[in-house]
Parts: sequence; C-alpha cells; structure tokens
Amino acid sequence: MRRPLVAGNWKMFKKIAEAVEMVATLKPLVAGSTTVDIVVCPVFTSLHAVAQALKGSNIEVGAQNCYPKESGAYTGEVAPQMLLDAGCAWTIIGHSERREYFKENDEFLNEKLKYALATGLKVMFCIGETLAERQGGKMNEVLKRQLTGGLQGLTEADFGRMSIAYEPVWAIGTGLTATPDQAEEAHAFVRSVVRAQFGETVADALRIQYGGSVKPENAAELMAKPNVDGALVGGAALKADSFAAIVNAAG
Ligand code: PGA
Repeated sequence: MRRPLVAGNWKMFKKIAEAVEMVATLKPLVAGSTTVDIVVCPVFTSLHAVAQALKGSNIEVGAQNCYPKESGAYTGEVAPQMLLDAGCAWTIIGHSERREYFKENDEFLNEKLKYALATGLKVMFCIGETLAERQGGKMNEVLKRQLTGGLQGLTEADFGRMSIAYEPVWAIGTGLTATPDQAEEAHAFVRSVVRAQFGETVADALRIQYGGSVKPENAAELMAKPNVDGALVGGAALKADSFAAIVNAAG
C-alpha cells in the first residue's frame, strides 16, 4: 500500500542554532522508523545546516516554497536548483498562506509545481477550502478547481515524485481539526478527481497527506483512514517529541 509521508512545516520559526538543535533531538526519536517517509521543512536560512545535520539519517529536508526559474533578476526568490544544492529533497508548493498572503494562484502554482518536479525536487502540493467555502457548500468545487488548475499537464512520472496535502484552511493553526471522517471524505474526493483526470494507476499510488492542527493526540486516528496517507504538520512539528510521536503514529 501507500507508504505514509509525515512532514513538518516549520513556517517562519527557528533560527539556525534552534533548527539544528531540534533535528539533533529528533533524529534518535525516529531512528527506528522504517515504514514512514519523514521530512522537515525549515526556513531557507536553516536549510543547509539542517541538511548537514541530517546527513545519513532517515529524515529528508524540504523547503517551504520556491520560484520557477533557475536564476535571474527575481529579488527575494529562491530557485529549486539552489534548494537541491542546499541539501533539500522536497519543497512545499501552494500552502494556503502563500495563496492567501502572497496571492499565488492556481496557474502560477502549476508553473512552480512543474518546474520544481523537472529539476528533481519532490513536491508536497497543498490544497484546501476556507471555512466560508465549506459552509457555502463549495468544498468540492474549490478542491476540484485547485486540482484541475494546479496539476494541469503533469505526467504519470511526475506523480511518482509528489504528494498532495489536503489542508482545510479553517483547521490550520486554529486547533480545529477535521474529524477523521471529514478528512477521509475530502481525501476520497481528491483521489476521485485525480482518478478521473489522470487514471487509476496514478490515483491509487498518490499519497494524500492531511494537514490542519495535527497533534500526537489525533494523528493515529486521522492516518488510520484508508485515504489519509500521512500528515503535513505545522505547530506540533516544532517540538521534537510531538513531531516524533506523530511520525511514530503513522507506522
Ligand atoms: P498546523 O499547520 O498543524 O499548525 O495547523 C499545518 C500547516 O499549515 O501545514
């Protein structure tokens, strides 16, 4: 079956020394884990130091964003090639905070996704509805739009190197978690959209992580659902013991 993927999105937290200390504590706590893919996503300035600290471990490093060019006059941006150079294997693309605060739309995110995959990075591609969209009965419509626009033009090989993170915006950082049944319903819908557009093989192999107030207390229940293939964890990923507990709940 699908191998769970548990990633920590550290957002804009932790300076270099704190980041390195965190992964030094984390490493032994998850060293026995052989059935879960584990990723930590620090801020850009810590990526290289964290990647060095994790060399030879079972934890991979990811960035939280990237720009779809190799180099050039793009002040403030970072190329996927530079992320690979810093020791990243992954990047997050399309987090709801990027969509909301930085106005990243489906078309731009599709460009980033295709470019990042082409450089050799693996990608966690985020989608999710807001509370107003859910309450207005628009959840499926929004997810379908984000998937159709975001995944346009991908090949079967591309899907082998990415996951989708379903993160209901109303559950991010709010302490409100989707219930396991709500998560399962959304994940099954996401998989059905991918199946309709890209076929059975792609849909069956694709990992869909849940994100939004995942904690050690609710992780096992969420990830026990058949269509929930891991987690993208924010707040609870900042401490080694709580992140390790979530990893260990996955497999
Ligand atoms: P949270 O964040 O776990 O703090 O809700 C998840 C995310 O934004 O990826």
